[in-house]
Amino acid sequence: MKIKQKIDAFLNYTEKDINLVSYIKSNIVFFEKIKHGNWPELIDILNKLPEIPENIEIELNQSVICVKSNLILENNPLNILLKKLSPWRKGPFSLYGVFIDTEWQSDHKWARLAPHITPLIDRRVLDVGTGSGYHLWRMLGAGARCAVGIEPTVNFIAQFYAVAHLLGESRALIIPTTLEQSERKPIFDTVFSMGVLYHRRSPILHLQELSECLRSGGELVLETLIVDSQDQNVLMPEDRYAAMRNVWFIPSIPLLRVWLIRSGYINIRVVNLEYTSPDEQRATEWTDFKPSLVDFLDAEHPNKTIEGYPAPLRAIIIANKK
Ligand SMILES: C[S@@+](CC[C@H](N)C(=O)[O-])C[C@H]1O[C@@H](n2cnc3c(N)ncnc32)[C@H](O)[C@@H]1O
Repeated sequence: MKIKQKIDAFLNYTEKDINLVSYIKSNIVFFEKIKHGNWPELIDILNKLPEIPENIEIELNQSVICVKSNLILENNPLNILLKKLSPWRKGPFSLYGVFIDTEWQSDHKWARLAPHITPLIDRRVLDVGTGSGYHLWRMLGAGARCAVGIEPTVNFIAQFYAVAHLLGESRALIIPTTLEQSERKPIFDTVFSMGVLYHRRSPILHLQELSECLRSGGELVLETLIVDSQDQNVLMPEDRYAAMRNVWFIPSIPLLRVWLIRSGYINIRVVNLEYTSPDEQRATEWTDFKPSLVDFLDAEHPNKTIEGYPAPLRAIIIANKK
């Protein structure tokens, strides 16, 4: 099975890094615990992916994560198989000529944060809530020694392993669970949490759990929705926010700063603030043209969501573990 091969190859690649190997081994159990009804079907699709040719060219440090080869994959069913893993939200990818135009242009987020983070050269990196793992590939492209993702959604996990197989890459891995359920060890140099904080009922616990994955002095890169206020405020939607379920707390920057201080972080700096644009998040054929940002904003007042809340404003904050 392709996932088993990838885990073995990752453990092989990192074998001298005893702490990392022990961290992965203590989390391997989550592969057996995946209970979602779609999982066998997704595994079946992964198993049908074609073997990759020997001479391939991969690009991990460009907007589009790309793999190409001069050899044509025989009876190439790739387009159909990859479509079956839809909806593809985070990307884009170009895999042997199949261009996956995802709902999010995730390279925009990367471009906003990349100039501000400590260079990833030779660092161990964790990306919590990694989705399809697009940013894991960008982290490797930026020189990380290895990149581990944590992600509970089975479709996205399958997308990651499909891409990993087609890239022929073994320096990244996804652990299929939530951060709070995972076994945590303070071994990572940089920990990313992007688009997750507002999904947690307890944002403070989330910040503490992120800290439990960082070595002392390590860097947290936090990207989240915020409300525009100079005071310590928080928006708690009554029900949905921009059509999203499970949005709990959207803090102002001054409040988020206090949450970070109380959770043991220092050197807290806001490096980017930006409203999400319909250029960055839009319907595509890879999500079956399901509704996207423009449908979630008030048509007459695009600075409001359809529920009447302020439109999505996102911040990137960098901090260090004490
Ligand atoms: C809004 S997406 C963000 C994806 C990516 N990090 C990005 O910024 O483009 C949030 C992701 O976090 C995952 N997620 C939600 N709760 C989580 C948790 N408690 N632990 C880890 N991942 C979680 C979701 O399944 C989803 O894929």
